[in-house]
Amino acid sequence: GMMKEIKGIDIKERLLAEKLGIQKAIIVPGNTDEQESVKNDLGKETASLMLSLFNGKNTIAVTGGSTMAKVAEAMIPHHLLSDLLFVPARGGVGADLNNQANTICAKMAERTNSAYRTLYVPDVVGNDMYQSMIKEPSIKEVLQQIKSANIVLHGIGDAITMAKRRETNESDLQKLKGACAVGEAFGYYFNEAGEVIHRVQTIGLQLDDLEGIQHVVAVAGGISKAKAIAAYMKRAPKNTVLITDEAAALKLLK
Ligand code: G3H
Repeated sequence: GMMKEIKGIDIKERLLAEKLGIQKAIIVPGNTDEQESVKNDLGKETASLMLSLFNGKNTIAVTGGSTMAKVAEAMIPHHLLSDLLFVPARGGVGADLNNQANTICAKMAERTNSAYRTLYVPDVVGNDMYQSMIKEPSIKEVLQQIKSANIVLHGIGDAITMAKRRETNESDLQKLKGACAVGEAFGYYFNEAGEVIHRVQTIGLQLDDLEGIQHVVAVAGGISKAKAIAAYMKRAPKNTVLITDEAAALKLLK
């Protein structure tokens, strides 16, 4: 019956959090790879978790991706007057405007009646450009807000899918394949052991910045992401909350 199923999920959530060494796992039924509606459910579940985290003044750093876009769609205003500022964790990825952190931040702010900032930089920049961009006052201000975020909300991607989305050059693509990259988050690529084997020079949140952040929320579903999730979680801060689907969870629990 229904109760038994709910209880079953509850146990899996605890086992999964334990196995991944993180604070908490939340599992929604289904498989994102097969049904788009499951991605909507990931979004809804994450939006409701976010509501429970908001308390007073919060700065939320958000990454891009189609999963994050679903979270934005599901956000609603807080019943208490909380002071929210959404900042993009980094610049743009790929050509699809709807999936960029900037767009998602603006949407989250709009849906929660709160403020947002925009980071007017490409996701991948050369070193000279990087050095001069971080000195630009308007960029500097957003970077400081990113560093002062108390909540980080991010997606996890399959490494090769993300590399293709970024239109990664052939030599970097071969580097990723050669080093058996399986996962990606924040522009960092991980092998199965959770080691960083490649990173894109990004302005914004860096992997080391996660350590001091109060709440870290990761959202990723689908069997196709199970390896990516497992890899990234080896590096994730212990206070991470993962929202995933049952298909990925079952694969991760095997
Ligand atoms: O960094 C990972 C990506 O944000 C994941 O993108 O949600 O479209 O799979 P996705």
